[in-house]
Amino acid sequence: MDPERLKKLLRPEVLSLSPYVAGKTPAKRKGRTLKLASNENLVIDNREVNRYLKRVLQSPSSLAYYPDSHQHRLKEALVQFLSQSGFVISEDQVVFGDGSGESIQMVMNSCLSPGDTVVIPEKSFSLYKTRALLAGAKVIEVPRKEFAVNLEALVDAVCGSRAKLVVFSNPDNPTSTTHSLSSIERFLSSLPEETLVLLDEAYMHFFDWKQSALSLLSRYPNLIVMHTLSKAFGLAALRVGYTVSHRELALEMEKTRLPFNLGLLPQQGAFYRLSHPEAVWKSVSIIQREREKLVAFLREQGLFVLPAGGNFVFCDFGPSYHSLLEGLESHGITVRSLGSFGFEPHFVRITVASPKDMNYFKRFFLSVREEVRR
Ligand SMILES: Cc1ncc(COP(=O)(O)O)c(C=O)c1O
Repeated sequence: MDPERLKKLLRPEVLSLSPYVAGKTPAKRKGRTLKLASNENLVIDNREVNRYLKRVLQSPSSLAYYPDSHQHRLKEALVQFLSQSGFVISEDQVVFGDGSGESIQMVMNSCLSPGDTVVIPEKSFSLYKTRALLAGAKVIEVPRKEFAVNLEALVDAVCGSRAKLVVFSNPDNPTSTTHSLSSIERFLSSLPEETLVLLDEAYMHFFDWKQSALSLLSRYPNLIVMHTLSKAFGLAALRVGYTVSHRELALEMEKTRLPFNLGLLPQQGAFYRLSHPEAVWKSVSIIQREREKLVAFLREQGLFVLPAGGNFVFCDFGPSYHSLLEGLESHGITVRSLGSFGFEPHFVRITVASPKDMNYFKRFFLSVREEVRR
């Protein structure tokens, strides 16, 4: 279609967006493939969830009915799971999203009017910016400090612009850097009360779950904490995320949620996993161990690697990055070059997987590096 015509048909905000760039899936090949590009949990044992979902589908009428629009059983299971971790939350503080991507959208649809300002760290998870632009907001991108999210600079930007919303992740995607709970609290206490904070804790389970800012909710009514079941919980394919906030905020946000945003299988799979979380913690401790081994391995190879708090490692592949990425791909392994985040493309993010997968990665990394050097 002629671009002038398209301009008349669509909103300028839509036309200005870039499409979402997902982590690369390895090309189909005869041998093994290993996708280390999207920070999924490749360690968790999901066989029990699979069996449970098969049982759910055995009822002949299960697909004919709408799923529970209030997601009552799921909320109950979440509240129970959080209380086992020492976080006292009630069901009416929770809003589920079709993945936390949808949760980001719901928060923004609830609080932003055209012309409002949103503050985010530069080179962040892309949905923060694209969903804010779609809501008609202006976005201020705040420079990082030695790769990490610069909390002081975020406060300055919020105060200087009277921003409506500030969004960032802790641990951060894509650098895997972290801020302690006490730094987060200091940050919250420096902000104006009328600025909402969306704190994305997609990777908190891999850092230190006890440091989740859920414990600060009662003191900061402008705080919204977001989690996903796509990472530590190993259910990326089911698409379940959620926000927890003050009851009054959550009840208003619920109005923006599409009534059946979580289908039957996402609700049931998430219900089962939240009610049986042992496999989550088992996989998290394996991933934490493998993460430290991967950081040490890459450093032994002379590469720059940041200390990591997520289930992924941020590393500099250096000037021959392109040949390294191509070489790994020729062996069926994909990692994420961070050009689409705004970093130089020699910076790379590698998902931490099982000991077997990590050995596979390391073996081919060494042989590809050797070839590149020759
Ligand atoms: C920081 C962060 N937040 C949110 C998400 C979205 O996760 P999902 O929509 O699968 O819940 C991701 C996905 O990679 C992420 O890295």
